Amino acid sequence: MRFHSSLFIFIACFAGTLHAADLPAPARDAATLYAQFCANCHGADLRGGKAQSLLDATWQHAKNDEDIARVIRKGILRSGMPSFSVALSDAEIRALVVLIRETGTRDVDPAVHRAAPLPSGVQTSELHSYRIEKIIDGLDVPWSLAFLPDGRLLITERTGAIFIATQKNGVWTTSSVANPPKVWVRDEGGLMAFAVPPDYDKTGWLYLTLSDPGENDTGNTKLIRGRLRDDRWSDEETLFEAPRSTYTSNGINFGGRVVFSGDYLFLSFGERGEVGQAQDLSLPNGKVHRLFRDGRIPPDNPFVKTPGALPSIWSYGHRNPQGLAVHPVTGELWETEHGPRGGDELNYIRPGHNYGWPVITHGMNYNGTPVSPITAKAGMDQPVLHWTPSIAVSPLRFYTGDAFPKWKNNLFLGALAQQELRRLVVEGDRVVRQEIILKNRGRVRDMITGPDGCLYVSLEVPGPENPAVIVRLAPAE
Ligand code: HEC
Repeated sequence: MRFHSSLFIFIACFAGTLHAADLPAPARDAATLYAQFCANCHGADLRGGKAQSLLDATWQHAKNDEDIARVIRKGILRSGMPSFSVALSDAEIRALVVLIRETGTRDVDPAVHRAAPLPSGVQTSELHSYRIEKIIDGLDVPWSLAFLPDGRLLITERTGAIFIATQKNGVWTTSSVANPPKVWVRDEGGLMAFAVPPDYDKTGWLYLTLSDPGENDTGNTKLIRGRLRDDRWSDEETLFEAPRSTYTSNGINFGGRVVFSGDYLFLSFGERGEVGQAQDLSLPNGKVHRLFRDGRIPPDNPFVKTPGALPSIWSYGHRNPQGLAVHPVTGELWETEHGPRGGDELNYIRPGHNYGWPVITHGMNYNGTPVSPITAKAGMDQPVLHWTPSIAVSPLRFYTGDAFPKWKNNLFLGALAQQELRRLVVEGDRVVRQEIILKNRGRVRDMITGPDGCLYVSLEVPGPENPAVIVRLAPAE
């Protein structure tokens, strides 16, 4: 984007063929537009003035986002709401809708950055009571959790360390894995997800995603496998890596989850801040890939016969998919991805389908400028759920234990910014019930069912002085 506009300016200045009118209009951000065009009547803080509040959740004319956009575009002339169809583009109107939604929800729920201390005693929820026990302390960004069949818990730190946690008589101790893989630690990049394959007992392979260091301080997502030999990372093999030309200094949107399903594995690969690449089938970015466990391409993948397409692609049009989960009974694949500002998504993944980023999105750019005027388009799947403002949706896993029988096969979803652990009941491709289990106890990095059936959750408490922790939710009799 930046490259293109400077190229235009270059041509305009030196070749003399383009005029200012040919240049793309500079994107205007929603907050500036609001101040310029709306604040006068609806109040600088959206709480109302001459005209009504846009935050009180009582709407006379607008039931949904499309209605709000229509009111802004067409106005309600008889009562003094002007039409903005000339002053604002459809994309800018869409960004204003996102701003109204975002501000409205913040109004209800302002606590984003603080975390309350972990509660003690019996906690109740809709179906089960439980206790929360802190089992491991002093971590940094514990990106993923994985249990080995012998009950040991593997923890990846984004900064590159791997810990093994062992429990003896209820007391947990941790040790470091020697010789961890080399990673490019930058912003969201580093060591990401561990996954233990179903045939681990036979093969000893462990699967790991990371940001791989390229030349000149660049990186990209990569999938490797290796073995633990005497707590030392060994036998490393690369299973999936991106072409060097896609390595970038952008430290964002790696995706990076790996899950198993039968003979296959699924890998989520973020668009890496190269927005258009999620729609480009010749590149790995912004995709979910399906491979055999040894890295070979399954011959029945949806794009194996498409000229120019990467044969590993299973679905595309994803932004930053940090969560992937396979239903333990039906094998259906679910995915979470971070939207930009607004537009976080929970998706039901079908092979070959396009999930729309950045052609359709329910969010806008971080600076308030629009990404797209549209939220839906034929041939592109809608999310099953979406969140504006963003909750920063990240890990996703089915609960598979017996300690909480009524939670069995429920989908658990974690959120970073809004510090939530949610329980979702899914039927086919629908979510039929939602419950927030934890709120404001820290950024939920990962959660997993333990061998004891308890739910283990890694929580990052905001603030550099606060170490991240692993907690265990155990049933309360
Ligand atoms: C000149 C004053 C004025 C300006 C400027 C103005 N509005 Fe309005 N707006 C109104 C009035 C008055 C109404 C109520 C219309 C009614 O109830 O019939 C309204 C209604 C609305 C509604 C519908 C609310 C509902 O309850 O359904 C929305 C949404 C809205 N305005 C958004 C905006 C946005 C966004 C802007 C800036 C782009 C804007 N307005 C600028 C006066 C204004």
